[in-house]
This record gives sequence, structure tokens and C-alpha cells, in this order.
Amino acid sequence: MLKIVNLSKSFNKNTDNEINIFRNFNLEIEENKCTAIIGSNGCGKSTLLNIIGGSILADKGQILLNEKDIAGLREEQRATYIGRVYQNPSMGVSPSLTILENMSLADKKGEKFTLRKLIKKNNIGKYMELLKDLDLGLENKLNTKVKFLSGGQRQSLSLVMAAMKHPDLLLLDEHTAALDPKTSNVIMQKTKELINKYSMTTMMISHNMKDAIEYSDRIIMLDKGDIVFDKPSINVTEKELIDIYREKLIQNVA
Ligand SMILES: Nc1ncnc2c1ncn2[C@@H]1O[C@H](COP(=O)(O)OP(=O)(O)O)[C@@H](O)[C@H]1O
Ligand SMILES: [Mg+2]
Repeated sequence: MLKIVNLSKSFNKNTDNEINIFRNFNLEIEENKCTAIIGSNGCGKSTLLNIIGGSILADKGQILLNEKDIAGLREEQRATYIGRVYQNPSMGVSPSLTILENMSLADKKGEKFTLRKLIKKNNIGKYMELLKDLDLGLENKLNTKVKFLSGGQRQSLSLVMAAMKHPDLLLLDEHTAALDPKTSNVIMQKTKELINKYSMTTMMISHNMKDAIEYSDRIIMLDKGDIVFDKPSINVTEKELIDIYREKLIQNVA
């Protein structure tokens, strides 16, 4: 499905701050599974998703999505196959546009369009159905600007927009980290429902060990750009993960 082959990436090359974050990194992600990516701050989780999504270019390596190397495609071109939800609830949406305008934009992903033709009346029913599934009443607020929504409502909308075109790959980067625990649980639940409904292959970065275990099929831990743990989630306990974190922390300090 997704295969990353011999990926290398450095930041600040040829300076005192040079970081070789990935060195011949390899990873294969199974179709229709949710893979959680965990690891301490700065281990390369976001960089990996940014390289796959195309907001950061790799120095070397292949990113094979359904056997096609997408490493040379621009971010907008990759967006046809890849949906993303970010940590910041304002990143995946346009706050100054209405819910309807945001959904229409998401619906037109990968197409050329003029703003005049953005909203197609025939599609409004479809958007209302998608929003109704969230149980937040957003289907009755189509003309509300997104900046007036709460963080949880924005993340829910972001999620629906990212999933709307049933992308081959869904990338979630700590998408519940900015929310309170109750809202975070609701969004995780909605995430699971959408992933199952559309059978989306998902990579989910999580800072929450419990969520990572509960909502994924496989857990991968990164440490300084290397995979140091890789197991089916069903065989993983929170204690096991915390122990490895602690061990890595001690190693990295020593
Ligand atoms: N655009 C960038 N420019 C320079 N350094 C970066 C950039 N993005 C990430 N890094 C560095 O790469 C390392 C990995 O960062 P990141 O992938 O954001 O970590 P994580 O998401 O696991 O916390 C960190 O040392 C970070 O400072
Ligand atoms: Mg990150």
C-alpha cells in the first residue's frame, strides 16, 4: 500500500545545527489498517508525515503509494490521494470561510476551479449528511464561518473534509492533542467510525499511549529517526510502552 524505501532527510545541512533525522529509513504500511506512530518529542514523527504528505521534501528515497512513487509530486498533487488532519484545529480548515465553503473546497480537491463556481447547490444535501454523522448539529450551521466554531467542532469538520474523497491514505498528526480530554475522546471515536466506514489506510501520530493502543492495529515507535518498536496493538500494553520510553530517555541522556 504505502512503502517507504531508503528515505534520508537532513535539516540545516553543512551547518553546526545539521540534523540527519532519517538515514536509509524503510517502512511498509498495510492497506485498511490504522498504524499509530509514537515516540518522544523530536524523534521525527511529524517530519515523516510531512515527507509523505509532501510539505517537506526528502533528500533521497522512494515513497510508493499503491506502487507509484509520489516523492516527486507537489503537495497539492499528493492531496488527491492523501487526506490530512493537523494538531492545530485551524490548519485543516479555512477559518474565514463558512462550513459550506470549506466543504465545497474539500470536495474540489485536485480539480481546477474558480471561486464563483465553488458551491454547487446539488452537493449541499451530501454535505449535510456527512455533517449529521458527527452529531454536533453542524449541518444546521452551513453558513457559519469556521472561526466561530470550537476547537473540537473544527477538528471534526477537518476530519470529515480530509475523509470526504476517501483518500488512499489518511495522515493524522496528534489531531486531538489541542483538545480537552472529553472532546479528544469524542474526536477519536469519530475518527475510528470514519476510518471504518471508508476503509481508509491511516497513519496516526499520538502522544497518548492509551489512544494509540485502543484505536490502532499496529504501533510503531520512532527514536531519532529509527524504528525501535513495531508490534500489533492487540499485543501491546501501556506499561510496555512507558518502559521503553523510559529506557530510551536514559540512553539519550547518557
Ligand atoms: N523544518 C525544519 N527545519 C529544521 N529542523 C526541523 C524541521 N522540522 C523538524 N526539524 C527537526 O527535526 C527533528 C524531528 O522533528 P519532528 O519530526 O517535528 O519531531 P516529532 O514530531 O517527533 O516531535 C527535530 O530535531 C526538529 O527540530
Ligand atoms: Mg510532531
